[in-house]
Amino acid sequence: MVKLVIDTDPGVDDAMAILFAARHPAIELLGMTSVFGNVTVAQATRNALYLAEKAGFSGLPVAEGAGAPLVLPPFPPSRQVHGDEGFGDLPAFVPQGRAVTETAAEFLVRLAREHAGELVLCPVGPITNIAEAIRLDPDFARNVKKIVIMGGALDVAGNITPHAEANTYHDPHALDLVLQSGADITMVGLDVTLQVLLSEPDFAELAIRAPRHGRFLQDISHFYLDFYHSVGLTGCGLHDPMAVIACIAPELFEAERTGLAVTLDGEAVGRTIRDPARPPVSVLTGCDAEAIRSLFFDILDEGAEAMPLAARG
Ligand code: BDR
Ligand code: CA
Repeated sequence: MVKLVIDTDPGVDDAMAILFAARHPAIELLGMTSVFGNVTVAQATRNALYLAEKAGFSGLPVAEGAGAPLVLPPFPPSRQVHGDEGFGDLPAFVPQGRAVTETAAEFLVRLAREHAGELVLCPVGPITNIAEAIRLDPDFARNVKKIVIMGGALDVAGNITPHAEANTYHDPHALDLVLQSGADITMVGLDVTLQVLLSEPDFAELAIRAPRHGRFLQDISHFYLDFYHSVGLTGCGLHDPMAVIACIAPELFEAERTGLAVTLDGEAVGRTIRDPARPPVSVLTGCDAEAIRSLFFDILDEGAEAMPLAARG
């Protein structure tokens, strides 16, 4: 079992990642931490709690994290991509539960100590909370088993500027700090996440195979797909779900080992670049797109559980 914490700014593809993780039999989801990015941090906390409850994980600890980057001034949420409330053009959903009283960084530090050598972190938003946890506890990077990051763009163009991927752009200093921590790091950037695109027919199939979660994902994806179409893509990248998939099925990816740095200012701010002087990390460069797509659909598939009782015989 993979003991997993997802650090997230839900967000349409964050929702896809969380519902996938909640259903995967090899994942033990220990909690989530929220961060600004696609939405404000308060919206991210609310949406993470809502998704946990939707997935049947009422009571899953959600710790609220950073509302702004480490060094840069606050950014407005990415409403043009994920909608006003984070779920496309759907209204806000109010969860029953509340965030725990620890901050995200405190929660991460405690869990990393309690599960030393076992905890896998999957940050799929700006990586501020992980940087804060590293600052809070000098043993944090050693205590975690792995950090599998959705972010960066090594040999491909950015998606928020020509140079930068959105999560990295929103807190370049945080990623640069994490990359120097010596933790076991995998970067799941645009180099691979744009190799698997989902389009309207894919979401329609998901809605049929998964009437509860798949239908919800279809509903929240229309607005998101419109954004992708507006930038010339035929579908949306499977960004955040691919980071979760890399946590449990690394054999589906090809990787390059290299040190990495982040450009911290100027026109190329937020760019991820090779830096041989830095501790090596694994940058995913290729993947088995068909296997990843099938895994995503198969795990979300509600099969017999979605059938009306009478039809189950
Ligand atoms: C990343 O940015 C956000 O918009 C998505 O949720 C994803 O984590 C892709 O660049
Ligand atoms: Ca995200």
